[in-house]
Amino acid sequence: MKNQVVIVTGGAAGIGGAITIELVQRGASVVAVDTNDEAGKEIAKINPDRIAFLKGDISEESVAKEALELALSKFGKLTGLVNNAHASRQKPLLDLTQDDWALSIGTGLNGTLNFMKAAHPELAKNGGSIVNFGSGAGLNGQKNQASYAAAKEAIRGLSRVAANEWAEDGIRVNIVCPLALTEGVAKWKETHRDQYDEVAEGIPLGRFGNPQKDIAPVVAFLLGEDSQYMTGQTLMADGGKIMLR
Ligand SMILES: NC(=O)c1ccc[n+]([C@@H]2O[C@H](COP(=O)([O-])OP(=O)(O)OC[C@H]3O[C@@H](n4cnc5c(N)ncnc54)[C@H](O)[C@@H]3O)[C@@H](O)[C@H]2O)c1
Repeated sequence: MKNQVVIVTGGAAGIGGAITIELVQRGASVVAVDTNDEAGKEIAKINPDRIAFLKGDISEESVAKEALELALSKFGKLTGLVNNAHASRQKPLLDLTQDDWALSIGTGLNGTLNFMKAAHPELAKNGGSIVNFGSGAGLNGQKNQASYAAAKEAIRGLSRVAANEWAEDGIRVNIVCPLALTEGVAKWKETHRDQYDEVAEGIPLGRFGNPQKDIAPVVAFLLGEDSQYMTGQTLMADGGKIMLR
């Protein structure tokens, strides 16, 4: 991925952090956009020449433009975009407030749209690739996840439209639905071992994914030439928990 320059939202920690590290290990340069200043500065230290950290909230349209400008000023171009960051609150749908709804739609759906629109002109020059993030919670309609599931399924719809509209611009758009043992899930595993084991047993491959080994390579695949004939697709990187047809 030596000649690739990729924006990764939420690229400082969790799955996004693993994607940043994996892409850089494969030779790409990354602009990691995240609200977590500490984690962002830490990850940039790993390879200051090829990781640029931008502190910003992806729900603000101006941040998408800033990320593009940083990619161009530091690395000279943009070839890929990973819309990974998404913040939401879990609660029964009758308890959802306007603020809960705005948080999930703002960071998940609006953030994804803003970054796609900002990146489009540069990606069109370079035959670029976009990877957006969905979730099994959206596909399954998981309880207490109304604002999150609604945003995630809207992201999949948006991605399919973009795949159709932007194919003539040479831009591919695909979706990854991960299942991974991030720091948050690891803490829950420590405190709720029985529940964790029950969920893990429901995953055909018998375990939660590793962000670095199981999720980031799927994203790298979708950004690279090996997937050049794929667009508009949803890839489940979830140990087989959901088998799409
Ligand atoms: N972890 C899983 O098993 C799982 C399952 C299904 C879907 N997903 C999806 O995968 C993606 C990554 O998940 P994760 O578990 O690593 O997430 P996470 O909650 O660990 O957050 C990832 C990063 O996003 C950053 N972030 C949050 N809100 C932001 C904002 N408004 N602007 C900029 N940065 C922001 C956080 O600081 C963090 O560094 C998300 O889209 C999530 O919905 C994860």
